[in-house]
Amino acid sequence: MHNAAFKSAGIDAQYGVFEIPENELQHFFKHVKNEPIYGLSISLPYKEEVMKYLNVIDNDAKAIGAVNTVTNRGGILYGYNTDFIGCVSAIKEIIPSLKNKRVVVVGAGGASRAIIYGLLKEGAKVYVFNRHKEKAEKLKEDFSKIFKEKIIVGDLTEMLSTGKSDLLIHATSTWITNPNMTIDELENFLPLRFVEKFDFVMDIVYKPLITPLLKVARELKKQFITGEKMLLHQAAEQFKIWTNQNAPVDVMRKALEDNVLE
Ligand code: ATR
Repeated sequence: MHNAAFKSAGIDAQYGVFEIPENELQHFFKHVKNEPIYGLSISLPYKEEVMKYLNVIDNDAKAIGAVNTVTNRGGILYGYNTDFIGCVSAIKEIIPSLKNKRVVVVGAGGASRAIIYGLLKEGAKVYVFNRHKEKAEKLKEDFSKIFKEKIIVGDLTEMLSTGKSDLLIHATSTWITNPNMTIDELENFLPLRFVEKFDFVMDIVYKPLITPLLKVARELKKQFITGEKMLLHQAAEQFKIWTNQNAPVDVMRKALEDNVLE
C-alpha cells in the first residue's frame, strides 16, 4: 500500500519491514533517529512498549495508550495513533455520521481501545462487552475522564440483552485463536438473534475477509464492513502524517486488494 502510494505521488521513498526481537527494541530506536528513516509503522506486539522510546507523543495516542505511527523529524521521534481514525473512516464509507448512533463493541483489548476512542470522539453512544468485564470497566474509567458521552459496559451475557442498535463491531482475537469455529460455538458467542438487532456489522479481522460473524450478517442481509477497510484507512492517515499530503486512497485500496486479500 505505502510503496504504491509513494510511487503514485512521485515521492522517492521506500517502505520495508524490520523484524525486531524484543531485546533489540531499545537499540533500534536509539539508532533509527540517525538513519534516513522518516517514518515507522508499529505493529503488534509493540504498540504500547514503543512509547517509552519516543520523544513526543500526541494526545490521541496518549489517551488510547498505544502508538502505531512514528515520524523522525531531525532526530526527534514523534508518536501517533492512526488506528482510531482508520476505524472511523472505514465506518464512514457506509455510515456518514456516527453522532448519537448506538454502537456495540465486542472486546476490550488494545484494538478495541483505539476503536472506542474514535467512536466516542465522533459522538456515538458506545456499549462495550467483554468476556472479562473488569477490562471493559477499566476502559470506561479511562475514557470517562476524557469524554462526556456515557459508556455502558458489561460481560458477554449482559451483551445479549442489548436493544436494537445501529452498528455491531467485533474486535476480539477469537477468529485468530479459533479460526475453525463451529456454527454451534458461534451461536454460543454471538447468537443469530443478537446479530439481528443491528443494521450494520463490522469485523476488524481481514484474514479471513469474511469472518464467521460476517457470514451470518450476510445471510441476514445486513450491510457489513470488512476488516481491510480499517487497515487501509489507518495506512492512509500514516501517509498523511509522513508526507504532509493527502493519501491516494484508491491507489492504496487497489494495492491492498491485489496483494493482501485472498
Ligand atoms: P488486541 O490488541 O487484538 O485487542 P488483546 O489486547 O489481547 O488483543 O485483546 C484480545 C480481546 O479479545 C480481549 O477483549 C479478549 O477478552 P478478555 O479481555 O476477556 O480476555 C478477547 N478474547 C480473546 N479470546 C476470546 C474468546 N475466546 N472469547 C471472547 N473474547 C475473547
